[in-house]
Amino acid sequence: MIKWLNSCKNTAASVLLLASLASAQQQNITYNVIAAPESTSMLVAVVVDNTTYPLAATPDDGGLLYQGQAPVAQSGYHYAIIDESQQIQVSEPFSRAPVQHQKTYNEFFNRTSNVYNVGSLPQIMEPISAINRIQSDLHIYDQIPTMHIWGNATSIQALNENQLKEDLDVELNMTYYSLDKVETFQDVKVSVAGRSSRYITKLSYNVKMKKKGKDTLFGFKKFKLRAIGYDPSYIRERIAFATLKSVGVPCTEYSYIRVFFNNKPAGFYGIIETFQDPWLANEFANGDKKYKSGYLYQGQTFSMTQTEFYPSDLGFYGNNLTLYSLGQYKIKAGAKDDAAPKDYKELRDFSKFINETTDATSVDEWNAKLETDGFIRAMAIEDLLGFSDAYMTMADNYYVYSEPDSKRMIYMPADLDTSIGSSIFLKSYMLDGNYSNHPGFSLRPLTKKLFANQEFLNKYQGFRLQFTESLINPTVMNPFIDSLVGMIYSDVEWDKSLPRLGYTFTNLTLDDLANLPGFDSFFPPGFEKDHEISSRNQTFLEAVGGTINSTSQQSVKQFIANKSANVIAFYNKTLDTAL
Ligand SMILES: *[C@@H]1O[C@H](CO)[C@@H](O)[C@H](O)[C@H]1NC(C)=O
Ligand SMILES: *[C@@H]1O[C@H](CO)[C@@H](O)[C@H](O)[C@H]1NC(C)=O
Ligand SMILES: *[C@@H]1O[C@H](CO)[C@@H](O)[C@H](O)[C@H]1NC(C)=O
Ligand SMILES: *[C@@H]1O[C@H](CO)[C@@H](O)[C@H](O)[C@H]1NC(C)=O
Ligand SMILES: *[C@@H]1O[C@H](CO)[C@@H](O)[C@H](O)[C@H]1NC(C)=O
Ligand SMILES: *[C@@H]1O[C@H](CO)[C@@H](O)[C@H](O)[C@H]1NC(C)=O
Ligand SMILES: *[C@@H]1O[C@H](CO)[C@@H](O)[C@H](O)[C@H]1NC(C)=O
Ligand SMILES: *[C@@H]1O[C@H](CO)[C@@H](O)[C@H](O)[C@H]1NC(C)=O
Ligand SMILES: *[C@@H]1O[C@H](CO)[C@@H](O)[C@H](O)[C@H]1NC(C)=O
Ligand SMILES: *[C@@H]1O[C@H](CO)[C@@H](O)[C@H](O)[C@H]1NC(C)=O
Ligand SMILES: *[C@@H]1O[C@H](CO)[C@@H](O)[C@H](O)[C@H]1NC(C)=O
Ligand SMILES: *[C@@H]1O[C@H](CO)[C@@H](O)[C@H](O)[C@H]1NC(C)=O
Repeated sequence: MIKWLNSCKNTAASVLLLASLASAQQQNITYNVIAAPESTSMLVAVVVDNTTYPLAATPDDGGLLYQGQAPVAQSGYHYAIIDESQQIQVSEPFSRAPVQHQKTYNEFFNRTSNVYNVGSLPQIMEPISAINRIQSDLHIYDQIPTMHIWGNATSIQALNENQLKEDLDVELNMTYYSLDKVETFQDVKVSVAGRSSRYITKLSYNVKMKKKGKDTLFGFKKFKLRAIGYDPSYIRERIAFATLKSVGVPCTEYSYIRVFFNNKPAGFYGIIETFQDPWLANEFANGDKKYKSGYLYQGQTFSMTQTEFYPSDLGFYGNNLTLYSLGQYKIKAGAKDDAAPKDYKELRDFSKFINETTDATSVDEWNAKLETDGFIRAMAIEDLLGFSDAYMTMADNYYVYSEPDSKRMIYMPADLDTSIGSSIFLKSYMLDGNYSNHPGFSLRPLTKKLFANQEFLNKYQGFRLQFTESLINPTVMNPFIDSLVGMIYSDVEWDKSLPRLGYTFTNLTLDDLANLPGFDSFFPPGFEKDHEISSRNQTFLEAVGGTINSTSQQSVKQFIANKSANVIAFYNKTLDTAL
């Protein structure tokens, strides 16, 4: 009743107020809002029909969620930040519709919607047969959940002030909020994630729940919080992962989440699953607790010694296992934490097989060593969505999984933010309708050798055309894109307004990479050193659908329109008859 006296100045208001108080006797509900007042002396309140009711921070989640009882609104309610004398400092500039029963959702301060009307892409192919994925509610596409990482402030400071230290992790608590659930986990390990993404102010993070024990978030234990710091459109990975799912390639899914550290916003993020146990069981064995995963290798571009250069392109460098373990590949599952050269044997053997194939190697022989169906689908998407930092382009951002029963390698793409018009290659190459001109197609050993087999090449071309006709074209993609933009618009605005927790380092540039000795033979034609400069200034909407004049960058919609038209033209069909 803080505003009781004020309200009474207005007779009409006080009548209404009395009416609402009368009904409030029976009709209180619990209001729930996630809010982070800038100062600790500020509190959060709900204003129901012009009466202010202070809410209390819940203790078990680090105090990000505010709760309290107040009457059901007659006309509407909104949340507000109040000071110690309970004067309103900041008010939501809109009214929320009355909630009649028990409790509101876990709402988010200053967002007009809890649930969004967001589209999805059609499932155009069955998942490849190796996939046997658990049902999980981790990715809720029409909502934006919140993750609060909290606890020891010294640890949080140490983490964010040492963003380049790859081996630094800290133990903290983590609370996850969806609209109707709040779950808190203790002893969660948090570290700064990524390679180039460590060098920018908005940091990406790894989150790992206790290895032992029952703690999981919807069946998963390890996550990456993707800062989206290199993508001014905020939607490239969301679209790329949705596309991979639509064509049945094994992969993480991707959804949006808001992230806080000790009640301070870190911003608007993407959340993906980390490909580490129990992920492989979740993806390939319906979460079987007894599943024993095989080796999972991650390609990381290259490593070099004083004299030699070793790309992670699945090429064969001879039998010496040490040469495979120089850092160009990481082992993410199947080996002990300190993987030894012997753990690279299955990767070496696979490289050797690729090396020894000829035009005469049969489809069956290939299928015995590689899950070719998923690989071919993944390569078609890599081309059609212009993945510019991926297997063909950079021998980067992919995994091969040595499936333990069949001993075949299963291919999985990852880290898809430099795609769909955000490119480190010239756009003329990325947009080419002719698959042969995609950078790296005939350079990387696996595409070069596999597609020397006409049957696989035909299948690849068939997928390119089919995916273009039924998925990667403006007719299917633009409505999906528009619905995503509608959903995230306010969060992007919020994200851009926030102070960052990390620092900027300007000493990581691709120029240095490109000038290293031995690189001429590594880079396919079209590599564009200056790519970043041109994307930095794009606004959100320009990056989504604007007309960008650059040799390498395009907006998301521009890229999809141009690429699909070029592919259709290459196969000599018109878009009209194709769609
Ligand atoms: C709330 O206050 C405004 C302005 O003071 C007034 O116009 C409105 O009728 C009031 N609403 C209720 C439900 O009391
Ligand atoms: C309803 O909530 C208000 C504000 O928290 C409180 O003063 C009142 O006692 C509650 N009424 C009931 C019936 O619980
Ligand atoms: C996690 O929360 C518990 C209970 O509030 C607290 O005792 C503990 O110190 C927190 N852990 C960390 C790492 O801050
Ligand atoms: C907080 O973490 C720091 C190191 O990150 C540690 O030295 C300190 O003891 C911790 N404080 C508490 C209360 O656990
Ligand atoms: C096969 O591997 C050898 C040894 O690394 C290499 O010299 C040769 O070029 C490779 N051949 C093919 C076709 O990849
Ligand atoms: C394997 O390669 C490593 C690293 O170059 C080298 O030190 C070692 O001598 C090689 N082993 C054999 C058997 O050639
Ligand atoms: C596709 O590109 C390759 C390599 O540049 C070229 O040899 C081939 O003729 C092109 N195909 C068509 C149909 O233009
Ligand atoms: C609330 O959201 C609006 C629109 O997104 C924004 O302009 C405003 O600054 C926000 N206010 C607060 C207090 O967050
Ligand atoms: C950039 O500078 C930081 C220190 O300022 C250093 O730790 C880091 O290794 C440097 N990175 C590169 C790629 O030079
Ligand atoms: C981006 O903005 C900076 C200043 O904010 C300017 O110096 C630079 O020329 C701009 N780059 C492009 C490609 O427009
Ligand atoms: C695009 O950029 C180029 C080079 O900066 C410039 O010459 C050209 O006029 C620009 N085109 C348009 C349509 O702005
Ligand atoms: C494209 O197809 C049409 C018939 O469908 C044919 O007349 C035309 O010659 C073809 N064009 C090319 C460049 O192959």
